Amino acid sequence: MANSKDPIGIFDSGVGGLTVASAINRLLPEESFIYFGDTRHAPYGDKSKGTILDYSRRISRFLVESGCKAIVIACNSASAMAYRELRKEWPQVPILNVVDPVVEEVLKLNARKVGLVATRATVRSKVYANRLQSLEPQLKVVQKATPLLAPLVEEGFAGTEVSKGVLTHYLNDVALKDLSHLILGCTHYPLLQNEFEEYLGSQVQVLNSANLVAEALKKLLDEHALRNSPSAIAKQQFFVSEKTPAFKATARLFFGKDIKLEERLLPA
Ligand code: DGL
Repeated sequence: MANSKDPIGIFDSGVGGLTVASAINRLLPEESFIYFGDTRHAPYGDKSKGTILDYSRRISRFLVESGCKAIVIACNSASAMAYRELRKEWPQVPILNVVDPVVEEVLKLNARKVGLVATRATVRSKVYANRLQSLEPQLKVVQKATPLLAPLVEEGFAGTEVSKGVLTHYLNDVALKDLSHLILGCTHYPLLQNEFEEYLGSQVQVLNSANLVAEALKKLLDEHALRNSPSAIAKQQFFVSEKTPAFKATARLFFGKDIKLEERLLPA
């Protein structure tokens, strides 16, 4: 039986989910969490559904067996490929994906033409386009796979001439002209948010999932009576399947201290 004092499990292929974890930590500082970055298998975005599903199942098992009261799939590729299956596998655990909160937000924004930049897996799944257009059929949605961006961020290249050059290459596409909104459909991309905004200018609103997911998590925990006491002292644990210097640096950037990083192989 889950207890409100138990941690939240958060996972991604690597550093990207830290954008979500840090938004959760800002909104719900009393909540403990266990973060798992599957650095050994990143990037997920170019892998098949079966592979992403397999990794996601094994990570979620690790998180559930570590006593997590809820799981946040802080990865769009895994949300697109594994959310339904994970819900079936763990019917007793509240599970949140990073796609639905963004779709709900876009529907409130009176959007005209929405762009999506994401990994190949997310683009191939058409998860955003299908959900948005099923709820608002006249909405124009254009998708663009930007497979080099997550590995660049994972390697610590955000904010450099290299990331700027790659981003310019991707955004310089006629299909992406005249957008009203651009969804950053990969949790690694908020680390490039300034570069996106600089390139697109003020007429395009750039949306990322981090704060929206934190708000959705708060609601989900409330619905299940699983919010921790506001006076609780939270504990954060970080696991990766393979230690990388960039992971530690990015985690430090978000959590402002020398975090302890533990290596753990995915369960079989
Ligand atoms: N951050 C993940 C996503 O949101 C995965 C990126 C990758 O590993 O390719 O899709």
